[in-house]
Amino acid sequence: MTDPGRAWTTGKPPNKLAALPTGPLGMLGGWMMSRMNRSEQREVLDLAAVAAGESVLEVGYGPGVLLADLVTDTKAGRIVGIDPSPEMRVAAAKRTAAAIVNHRVRLEPGTAEATGQPPASFDVILSVNTVAIWPDLDAGVRELARVLRPGGRLLLSWHGGTAPTRAARSMILPEERLERVHAALAAGFASVERLRTEHCDVFRAS
Ligand SMILES: C[S@@+](CC[C@H](N)C(=O)[O-])C[C@H]1O[C@@H](n2cnc3c(N)ncnc32)[C@H](O)[C@@H]1O
Repeated sequence: MTDPGRAWTTGKPPNKLAALPTGPLGMLGGWMMSRMNRSEQREVLDLAAVAAGESVLEVGYGPGVLLADLVTDTKAGRIVGIDPSPEMRVAAAKRTAAAIVNHRVRLEPGTAEATGQPPASFDVILSVNTVAIWPDLDAGVRELARVLRPGGRLLLSWHGGTAPTRAARSMILPEERLERVHAALAAGFASVERLRTEHCDVFRAS
């Protein structure tokens, strides 16, 4: 794998537990995320309101909980997940095995800044709890704007919201960082809204 770089929020390389899950620690992190971030995935899925036949890209799918919910709880057409962690690919592939076999789900290596996807190829792009980890916020936003279809929507969320869990509280981004995300999105998209669910701060851009 290429050097993942340092997160734009901390200036530090990603940790092996959750930011770039690696080895046995990363598998443990994936299991923890599958339990702790579940309500966040649900809230973002509800906001996304994926319509029948829409193509969906999930960026940084981690253990694959949201991918599995996209399969069972929506009528999305093509569902593509990208993540740089081979360990998370194994975990997500287990959760979506049947949908991979019938070609509804595809898992590929990739990051927000380098998705490897063709231009204007998705109706909906979702990314939950990854934006603070990206090495280059502006490059990630530019790349997601490139692969979103005109008229499509991007939902980018991070731990927060009106009632964050105790575990999530230490990960909430300070207001200045959230404003920086808003500004980066405003530079790449025609419209950007900031929303708060119970457990997430969410940006919806189109
Ligand atoms: C904190 S986990 C979140 C996983 C899942 N979305 C969730 O909410 O439970 C971060 C995930 O983003 C992936 N990741 C790391 N660097 C990334 C990047 N530059 N772009 C996209 N995803 C990245 C990691 O491999 C990991 O699976």
